[in-house]
Formats: sequence, C-alpha cells, structure tokens
Amino acid sequence: MSELIVMVGALNADLGIRVDRLPAPGETVAGRDVRLSPGGKASNQAVAAARLGGRVRLVGAVGDDENGRMLREHLARDGVDLGTVQVLPDVVTGQAIIPVDDAGENAIILVPGANGAVGPEDIPTEACTDAAVVCLSLEVPLPVVQRAAALAVAAQALVVLNPSPYQPLAETLLDATDVLIVNELEAAQLAGAALDFDAAPLPEPLAATLAGHGIARAVVTRGGKGAIVVDGGTAQVLPARAVDPVDTTGAGDAFTGTLARRLAAGDTLEEAAREASVVAAFSTTRRGAQASYPTPAELAAWR
Ligand code: RIB
Repeated sequence: MSELIVMVGALNADLGIRVDRLPAPGETVAGRDVRLSPGGKASNQAVAAARLGGRVRLVGAVGDDENGRMLREHLARDGVDLGTVQVLPDVVTGQAIIPVDDAGENAIILVPGANGAVGPEDIPTEACTDAAVVCLSLEVPLPVVQRAAALAVAAQALVVLNPSPYQPLAETLLDATDVLIVNELEAAQLAGAALDFDAAPLPEPLAATLAGHGIARAVVTRGGKGAIVVDGGTAQVLPARAVDPVDTTGAGDAFTGTLARRLAAGDTLEEAAREASVVAAFSTTRRGAQASYPTPAELAAWR
C-alpha cells in the first residue's frame, strides 16, 4: 500500500466562464461557455495526487447541497478518502467564479461558504495519523491550518505548506513547515520585499526568511518561466515545458498535488518538482482544474 498523503483545506464548486479578456473595474464583458466543475485548492491537490496513484485523504467541509454532492462524487470517483470531509448544515458549499481569457489567464472570486465555517475543533485528532505527507493551503481559517500542522508534526509527517491565497502567517506555522511551495508573488509577500528571480534564483530576503524558520526546502513556481528548487541553501532553476495554455486554473494545485505524491513515493525534492512541472504544464492544456489533471497513461502519451 502506498504512503498516505493528507490534504487539508478547501473544496469549491468552480463556475468557469470563457471571456475574450478579463473585465476592468466597472466594465461589463460578454462571457460564453459556462461550466460548473469541481475545484478548491486542497480538493484539486487531492485529485492530482490520487489520479497519479497516490493514497489520499482530504480534510475539509462542504454544505448539504447539490454542489457539495457533486464535489464528493467526483472525489470519490478518483478514490480520495472522504471520511474527514464534513457535511455542514445551514451553510453553502464553497464556490469560485472564474472568468478565463483567451490567453488562459484567470481571475477568481471566492465565496468560502463551508470552508470558512470549519473550526480547529472540527479536525479530528487522528486526521493526520499515519500520514507520510500533509499538505496545507489557506482557503480555510488559519486556526484550522495551524491545528492540522500541529497534528502533522505530532505524526512525524512531512509538512508541505502552500500559503495560497497569501495571508500573514503565524511563526509557529512556518516553523512547522518542511517544504514551502510559493509562486513569485507569494514569495515576495512572505519575504516582505520585492524579489527578482531573474537576477538571483534565491534572492537574499527569501533566503533569510527560509533560514529564519528553519525551512531548508522550498519551490518557487514561475508559470511559463519554470520553477526554482531550493534545497539546503542552494537554488536550482528548472525550465518549464513550452505549452499553449488554454486555462491555467488549478495549475498550481496540480504542481503541489504531484509534488506531494512524488515525495511520498520517495523522490528527492528536485525529482518531485520536475514531475510536478510536467503535470502542471499538462493541466494548462485543458479547461478547468480537476478536469484538466492527467492519468498516468495520458501523461505518458503527452511527454
Ligand atoms: O487554485 C485554483 C482553485 O482556486 C480553483 O479551483 C478555485 O476553487 C479556487 O479555490
């Protein structure tokens, strides 16, 4: 049996809408081809990892409604353990409205719903027991993330933190982190300084932040510019596979889910990040988040 991966965070019903271009403030643009599909960062990461053969448990919540049932059905189809996904009464399932332009770029309006109603007391003590890797993201209240981090540390699991969407983090959460995954913007927010990754793959303010919290391993994702793998103070630049993106929604989650899957299987951080880059690139060639993630056979045919 493969090593257990636990994802803690949000489940959302994504309403994807194609637009010629994203609207400016106060502007109305015409949308077309509206699609409802499963999303949410933790839920996406869970599906990416499970579809590639990982044994995955998801910790989070949905409302007692159609969207919640849709999400649970999709996740169950991918074999994700939903025993720690609560169905909360009197609150809607999380929703994301996602216009996607012709270049595949998106903007997201998030309605947290059940994700915002979860409290630390809702995370069962045994949620992370037996986990090899625990992935944390920030679409649920920070006290929930902090409790999950504490349970992960107690279980001696590898703690992977994807601080997205970014918000100021408690010192204890960073101290519990073994592997940090950030995009360029999140890296700058975390370091509290503008960062130029073209000038130095590991800019000093980021190096200092990582060192200050004892985080030896990190990945900075740069979309079409590839990724930077930081391991023990050295930084390595990984190129991105060239693609013509259709929809970048959930590409970061494909990266994190794949990275967790590969780390749980024993890869080094560099090996895991190389595979994660390929899967994230693949995901941009199809519409939606989870709907765009590959099976091993699809990935092999695409390489
Ligand atoms: O990272 C992509 C995800 O962010 C979408 O699936 C949407 O639900 C938002 O949470």
